[in-house]
Amino acid sequence: MRDSAEFKRVAAAAALDFIHPGMRLGLGTGSTAEAFLELLAGRVAKGLDVVGAATSERTAGKARALGIKIAELDDLAPLDVTIDGADETDDALNLIKGGGGALLREKIVAASSRKMVVIADHSKLVKRLGAYALPVEIVAFGARSTLDRLERTLAEFGYKDVTVTPRSGPEGLFRTDSGNLIFDCALKVIHDAPSLATALSQVPGVVDHGLFIGLASHLIIAGPAGTRILEGKAS
Ligand code: 5RP
Repeated sequence: MRDSAEFKRVAAAAALDFIHPGMRLGLGTGSTAEAFLELLAGRVAKGLDVVGAATSERTAGKARALGIKIAELDDLAPLDVTIDGADETDDALNLIKGGGGALLREKIVAASSRKMVVIADHSKLVKRLGAYALPVEIVAFGARSTLDRLERTLAEFGYKDVTVTPRSGPEGLFRTDSGNLIFDCALKVIHDAPSLATALSQVPGVVDHGLFIGLASHLIIAGPAGTRILEGKAS
């Protein structure tokens, strides 16, 4: 019986088909993205010339340690393709991301890429987003007031009495690479992800949220039934 780590690696391997010499890559964050980095490093060691912009300090460190060239996003954009994981995806390739806390940079990098290829094991493909708690990144200044506005916005969308949990890290509250906080919102089912995404982006104090709408061009999903590639509107 193969486990999810193996399927993540299968999806990561399939993403190598999107990579060509001379490309400028966006490099995602998380265990699936790290599996891709390891496989990419094998190609780089054999002479593949690519350069990447990382979606987190963790990914930048891992890529450099593996011998993959890293540069600033602004020196590379527009990128040819970003390869990244997801916490959930529906079949329209709307995503929940941010389980690793890198959602802000992940969204900036994806939006700076001609293509975004999402790699995932089969457990990530859902009928409706929302079972995975939606990460929302907020600035620390006035965090309690922002939280009130966030909860009011969620209530307007019918999400009343939602559990909103501040994410903790090794030393108290988790801080993102940009120094912000994350609140995980247990919505259970998201009925209209594009409208909710727009509304959350308008809450003062919210820096960004984990809904990625219309950004993914391709989804590579690997599971016991094999590997499938779905195309999104952004393809
Ligand atoms: C990090 C992310 C990751 O892509 C997401 O959490 C998936 O992680 P994994 O590949 O470890 O399952 O959004 O912020």
